[in-house]
Amino acid sequence: MVEADTPVAEGKAGAPARGRPALPSPGAIVQFLLQALFNLLITHLPGHWLRLLWLRLLGVRIGSGTIIFRGTTVFGARELQLGERVHVGFRVVLDARGGIRVGEDVNISSDVQLLTARHAVHSPEFEREVAPIVIEDHVWVATRAMVLAGVKAARGAVIAAGAIATRDVPELTVVAGVPATATGSRRSDLSYRLVARRPPLY
Ligand SMILES: CC(C)(COP(=O)(O)OP(=O)(O)OC[C@H]1O[C@@H](n2cnc3c(N)ncnc32)[C@H](O)[C@@H]1OP(=O)(O)O)[C@@H](O)C(=O)NCCC(=O)NCCS
Repeated sequence: MVEADTPVAEGKAGAPARGRPALPSPGAIVQFLLQALFNLLITHLPGHWLRLLWLRLLGVRIGSGTIIFRGTTVFGARELQLGERVHVGFRVVLDARGGIRVGEDVNISSDVQLLTARHAVHSPEFEREVAPIVIEDHVWVATRAMVLAGVKAARGAVIAAGAIATRDVPELTVVAGVPATATGSRRSDLSYRLVARRPPLY
């Protein structure tokens, strides 16, 4: 699990965030508190509309027809972009501090973690580094998969249940395992549109 998001100046995507953090501005503190409130409380309440409204207020760009189920945790809300008809399952971790861009008709199943931050393991300073994650149209990230910083899953890719994607996933490729490797491919004429079903208590 990622460390708690704190109201510090965030590093640019792809670049290590080094040195002492700048003092947070009042706006950053408000953003931090509203995001913390979402992760502590709002995300667990029944009612999709409240979750979507709160996240939009936090600066998440969310397309129409997108649904987010209960228990999802968001870090770096302003760097998170979800396209149209994206389905986000239960208890997903969206650590967008390095930027997460999700396309259209993407299925992110329950308990998935998208992690754009890490530490520099070979550095004496153990700095935090961030890099963006890109998930293109018609990708399915299956239950309990994890996608690490800097990974791009190209159109129609599938990251199988429990896989850890450490490298880019090519278009229409199914990957599985730890680290994820190719196990199959999908047909290229994918045309489905995910239909938003919002059960009242979920
Ligand atoms: C991705 C998935 C659908 C399999 O796709 P597929 O291309 O049809 O794969 P197959 O079932 O034909 O299996 C192909 C190979 O990958 C292996 N494999 C399948 N899923 C795997 C996984 N999650 N991890 C590791 N290996 C896996 C199979 O054992 C098989 O190996 P083999 O060739 O040595 O026998 C499935 O594994 C998966 O991840 N399901 C997720 C279910 C889920 O998240 N449900 C909840 C939301 S709806």
